[in-house]
Amino acid sequence: MTAETLIELKSVNKGFKASDGTLRTVLEGVDLRLHDREIVALLGRSGSGKSTLLRIIAGLVGADHGHVTYRGQAIHGPVAGVAMVFQSFALFPWLTVQQNVELGLEAQGVAAAERSRKASDALELIGLSGFGGALPRELSGGMRQRVGIARALVTNPQVLLMDEAFSALDVLTGQTLRDDMLELWDEQRIDTRSILVVSHNIEETVMMADRIVVLSSDPGRVRAELRIELPRPRDADSEEVRALIAKVYAMMTQSSGSTPAAAAGALELGYRLPDADVGSLESVLELLADEPFKGKASLARLAEETELPDDELFPICEALGLLGMAHLVDGELRMDRQGQHYVNARQARRQDLFARQCRGRVALVNFILDGLRADPGGVLSEKTVLDRLEDLMDDDEAERVLKVAVEWGRYAELYEYDFHTRQLTLRREGVGVS
Ligand SMILES: Nc1ncnc2c1ncn2[C@@H]1O[C@H](COP(=O)(O)OP(=O)(O)O)[C@@H](O)[C@H]1O
Ligand SMILES: [Mg+2]
Repeated sequence: MTAETLIELKSVNKGFKASDGTLRTVLEGVDLRLHDREIVALLGRSGSGKSTLLRIIAGLVGADHGHVTYRGQAIHGPVAGVAMVFQSFALFPWLTVQQNVELGLEAQGVAAAERSRKASDALELIGLSGFGGALPRELSGGMRQRVGIARALVTNPQVLLMDEAFSALDVLTGQTLRDDMLELWDEQRIDTRSILVVSHNIEETVMMADRIVVLSSDPGRVRAELRIELPRPRDADSEEVRALIAKVYAMMTQSSGSTPAAAAGALELGYRLPDADVGSLESVLELLADEPFKGKASLARLAEETELPDDELFPICEALGLLGMAHLVDGELRMDRQGQHYVNARQARRQDLFARQCRGRVALVNFILDGLRADPGGVLSEKTVLDRLEDLMDDDEAERVLKVAVEWGRYAELYEYDFHTRQLTLRREGVGVS
């Protein structure tokens, strides 16, 4: 790679004090470079530190450790060549569209007449000419985000940072805006030399990026990288794009070694169990076992057969992987022996098998079981589990993950959950099983 480096991060660490006063490391040893004429997408789960990383590059917060530079100069505060677009739009409601856009220039001390001209140009570029006098509340969400983008572009940034800029919008609006941005970039109608997009939407990153960087969670580290050579505009339904989506998903759920991290990772309490209900796991397994697949199916075919969108199908595949029932390789889901046993078994035996796989492979299920056994009455409050999980992930994520573990454990007849008392109780059958 000979292209000039615009932004460079070296061994960046960042932590925050948790409510109990302990320091929680959010980013650890992050190395990242943005080169001239490239779009880089940063992908990671919620809470992995993506926004924090962007804010560090934008000079809005400082790193605790490491170097952050823009064209070789250390970043200590906001930099003139770097602009950011926020998920929340971050517009001032009492200012007109034109005034909101001019704001970016006011900070740079640009004279009034020039401000006005540049803001009008930026609004025209992004498809908002004629709306300068409107107030943000008079605009739709998609148009408001166009204002957010115009406010960033008006400063002619060399580096544009976009923090989930499309995810607050409905799907179609988000896609249109994304495609408009890509057109501006590909036709070089903006001076921006490099774009860093943060997203948790795999398809979005595959559609946009020249390079995808995957951030792991707790702490956030650069885990994997993928270069995408496909020319833009890309067709979201094309085989190439679907295969890349499957590949990136596999990257996000597997470690670099030969063991799937989905299997190894769930042995840790902090593993974010994927959102997959037992019914869906079962139907995908049955489908996989049956004609015409007979134990092996491409994700594209599975998506077609199940009519499930990627964001539902992927977690199911991940769950099957960590339960040791099927695994993903090269965009294909392949049945494992335990999965085949499961499909062949009758209901009661299925539940036993499921229990065994959960106990052998899911730390959270074991954590709950240990807590239940330690209590003379075999009772454990949901709060005890959540408190522990909240040290490892953010509160919403903790609740979501616990919900998955509760559903799986109930199906496996390991424990029960009472929605009124919010307590878990040990199933007698669960006591003796080794
Ligand atoms: N200013 C802050 N003070 C304390 N904790 C923070 C602050 N900013 C972010 N965090 C924590 O850092 C973690 C990563 O946050 P964030 O960078 O927003 O992740 P992402 O954008 O990937 O969802 C989260 O657990 C969040 O609660
Ligand atoms: Mg974020």
